[in-house]
Amino acid sequence: MEVKKNETAETPEDCGCGVTRRQVMVGAAVGSAALAASGLVTGKPAMAGDRMDGYPRKLIGKVSALQTDQPVVFTYPQDSPSIFRSALIKLGVPAKDGVGPEGDIVAYNGRCPHQGGELVPEDDTLRYDAASKTLGPCPWHLSTFDATNEGILTSAHSTQNLPQVSLEVEGDNIYAVGVKGLIYGMPDNLMKVS
Ligand code: FES
Repeated sequence: MEVKKNETAETPEDCGCGVTRRQVMVGAAVGSAALAASGLVTGKPAMAGDRMDGYPRKLIGKVSALQTDQPVVFTYPQDSPSIFRSALIKLGVPAKDGVGPEGDIVAYNGRCPHQGGELVPEDDTLRYDAASKTLGPCPWHLSTFDATNEGILTSAHSTQNLPQVSLEVEGDNIYAVGVKGLIYGMPDNLMKVS
């Protein structure tokens, strides 16, 4: 499967949204409606309420440039090391918390939450099965994750979902705005790694 490198990323910028995690949980529906009404978010604003405090708002792709089942690799929320490698995918079918006009654009961190197996290795290939819309199997113990349903485990050893990158669409731009779940090896996804 051909995987494109992200050539559209720009310097991370503070979202400046001032929305706390608790506020997101309590008022997600209200927040989504407000953002949609503001005209800042186009397409399906499913993830608009998932901006998370402290996370950068990073441009990771263009809606118009994505092709179904052709992942784009990017790093988030930090530029290195490799544990932050992630994949942006247009699934071609609606997904939980998917964005874009069809609600089928999602992104996931590429490290297996079991013991850190690489689903997005350095050569930019991605372990992804387009027919079943699953990420994996993990090269170490064969875990697979449902890309349509928050990265939930579908087989093997992991006890956690694959961390899903929260997305926001503004015009044609796709932004990463947070990560749901801990990235493997990180006590805090935003802890500075040198
Ligand atoms: S490291 Fe992925 S299943 Fe064990």
